[in-house]
Amino acid sequence: MSLSLQEQICSRKTFAIISHPDAGKTTLTEKLLLFGGAIHLAGNVKARKTQRYATSDWMELERQRGISITSSAMQFNYKGYVINILDTPGHQDFSEDTYRTLTAADSAVMLIDSAKGVEMQTIKLFEVCKKRGIPIFTFINKMDREGKSPIDLMDEVEKVLGIESYAMNWPIGGGADFKGIYDRQTGNVERFSAELRKGNDDVRQSGHIDETETQEWIGDELLNRLNDEIELLDMAGNTFDKARIDKGEVTPVFFGSALNNFGVPNFLDSFLTLAPPPAPRLSNQGVLEPTHPEFVGFVFKIQANMNAMHRDRIAFIRVCSGKYERGMNVIHNRTHRKMRLAQPQQLFAQERTILDEAFAGDIIGVHDSGILRIGDVLAEKDGIEFEAMPFFSPENFARISIANALKRKQFIKGIQELQEEGAIHVYRDLNIGVEAPIVGVVGQLQFEVLEYRLRDEYGVEVQINSLPYEIVQWIPKDEEKIRILRDSSLSMVVLDQDENYAVLLLDKWKANWLSERYDIVFHPQPLKDE
Ligand code: G4P
Repeated sequence: MSLSLQEQICSRKTFAIISHPDAGKTTLTEKLLLFGGAIHLAGNVKARKTQRYATSDWMELERQRGISITSSAMQFNYKGYVINILDTPGHQDFSEDTYRTLTAADSAVMLIDSAKGVEMQTIKLFEVCKKRGIPIFTFINKMDREGKSPIDLMDEVEKVLGIESYAMNWPIGGGADFKGIYDRQTGNVERFSAELRKGNDDVRQSGHIDETETQEWIGDELLNRLNDEIELLDMAGNTFDKARIDKGEVTPVFFGSALNNFGVPNFLDSFLTLAPPPAPRLSNQGVLEPTHPEFVGFVFKIQANMNAMHRDRIAFIRVCSGKYERGMNVIHNRTHRKMRLAQPQQLFAQERTILDEAFAGDIIGVHDSGILRIGDVLAEKDGIEFEAMPFFSPENFARISIANALKRKQFIKGIQELQEEGAIHVYRDLNIGVEAPIVGVVGQLQFEVLEYRLRDEYGVEVQINSLPYEIVQWIPKDEEKIRILRDSSLSMVVLDQDENYAVLLLDKWKANWLSERYDIVFHPQPLKDE
């Protein structure tokens, strides 16, 4: 192992930002990119909600609904670090995509709106991060607006999420009285002013809390309050414990205002020193260290037609070890076939650049002609496998049919590709076949995206007829049981994409009844070949 490989890996920080919609994720991402020196691009990130969709038509839907549907990866350099940000959709209907993206992150930044506190989607995303045991950093945003008290916010994080919190800095006042943030390690005060609100960046000032000028700036009332609150934190709050932060047991908390780029540099600097470099991963061959000299990566996301101008399909690969070099040959673990990674791309905001090399922690995008699937491993050596991707059972089902039979070919292609992306689960009705597949999704909004994308990307108009089922379970190939379930009005037998027998059920209660009455064992996931 060469030292330079080690250095490359140690300089990498790969993280996802999780938040409830509207907490300011787009704004924060934009400001972070700004530190990478990509000022013009930083503006583009913000524009994602408006103009960017011109190059990515189906995201028009995202714009119309004002939500973030897709996840992408962005990379920038800052102070000697290589930073990979994984963007995740905030809307709960796309949680499957988010969960998969989180498998590629080494840490997470949890963004909270100071007025709203811990919201529903934050809770769900937090749970996934917690399950993965990755460190979680909290940024409490919108301090320039009237919000909850910082003590209450810290308390909410602890009580609602069940994670201990440690305030790295502390806000002085809030809303109209917001004066700045106090750094608990250095005693420095970063001043917030009306000029900053107006976007005048030249007025940034800071000073030490012991300086008279700083104290006068804060004013007696807020200074007294600050002193009381800091005393309370020092006495009754948690202690700073790096080992526990690493394990995701304590979250360091930062305050600021992303919109005003206030507290963001302070946050980023601290984050970079505290956040872990690429972590080792558990594989079927033991622990895979990021410094392992051979290239190993896995596909965590596939996205077709990302860019209307390209009409291509990109598989996003998280590099877990070794070094990727342009044009290198790898083995695709599922098919055991050789693949050449010819033109891997790196995504920086919406721009793509061809990548010459990448190291553990990096995300590369490769063109995929339909071979790759989510969870597939690409490596120099055959046989490596990671833990299966988290599986989410669909809860909404519908029969999809085409209005114009002449579009059959495009329709089948569209359904197939969207299934491979992991955007939908497709089942085949035993009596009908591929012409009118049954699609299962986690969230209702995914049907809208399906309809939109089939029209926009494949030129197919479809009808979506909801089915009353809420659950899918898998069953062994037992003809007698299959006949019972086919005859029952409480269930529908289907085949999944791998030709496994599955059954759609109306609800849990009826599933239990069927199971007991006919002695049928339902399995929550596809059964391996018997
Ligand atoms: P999201 O990606 O998490 O959904 O949130 P986004 O960044 O789009 O921010 C949601 C809204 O919150 C935006 O306002 C944004 O300007 C605002 N915002 C973000 N950070 C701050 C902050 O620190 N202070 C204040 N006061 N507002 C903040 P919008 O009106 O919905 O959109 P826009 O018209 O500003 O684009």
